[in-house]
Amino acid sequence: EPVVAIVVAAGSGVRLGNSSAGGHGPKALRKLSGVPLLRHSIDRLIAGGVDRVVVVSRPEFRKQMRATLAGIDLPITFTDGGATRTDSVRNGLRVLEGVPPVILVHDAARPLVPAEVVSRVIAAVRGGSSTVIPVISLIDSVRAVEPHGSRVVDRSGLRAVQTPQGFDGATLIDAYDHLPADTLFTDDASVCEAQGSEVALVEGSVLSMKITRPHDFLFAEALLQAGLA
Ligand code: CTP
Ligand code: MG
Repeated sequence: EPVVAIVVAAGSGVRLGNSSAGGHGPKALRKLSGVPLLRHSIDRLIAGGVDRVVVVSRPEFRKQMRATLAGIDLPITFTDGGATRTDSVRNGLRVLEGVPPVILVHDAARPLVPAEVVSRVIAAVRGGSSTVIPVISLIDSVRAVEPHGSRVVDRSGLRAVQTPQGFDGATLIDAYDHLPADTLFTDDASVCEAQGSEVALVEGSVLSMKITRPHDFLFAEALLQAGLA
């Protein structure tokens, strides 16, 4: 049963210091220990059991992205990104052939995701969960800000949500076909949940952090150099 991964790489990297037009080139092509984030991410997805990849990117960077994936010995399809991450995922779903039994959706910006997390997500989908997310517990104390003051929130009941998120293919495709126009979704599991899917949680990893600000590169590079990621 093939596992298809949609890798979203069409963002601008504004929090890295890029203009919204993607000035210095997309975040996914920025290098970590000499290797673009996109390549790290896809290598790890493949190590975790992915058989096919769809890369969603801005058309002007497609050629460069294809070049960084040279030598990968499985099918890679490209398609164009949209204005939001949700639009980009939807574009990725449009180029799938048929309905793959397992679809993963992964941020190119999470280059150090451990292969074990990828295979854990795949195993949970194969085990019958239609929507699977990797999560980690929170480190900091958390407060909810209210109109007048704030209140502490019990951290032990909260989880931070990562990618790759895994889906039964029919569930994900159907959920994106019924996407409500007026709701902002920040991940794909919530799109499926809006159509009634139950969300299953598996253990994620601190190594799957999303490269967002410039110092994240320093941290990720140090982890790689130390052999910890
Ligand atoms: N993404 C995408 N299409 C968009 C927006 C985001 O494919 N329209 C992708 C990004 O390329 C990234 C992932 O979604 O791999 C998570 O987004 P984020 O970390 O926010 O990346 P950017 O949107 O590029 O960064 P920023 O928000 O700082 O501009
Ligand atoms: Mg963004």
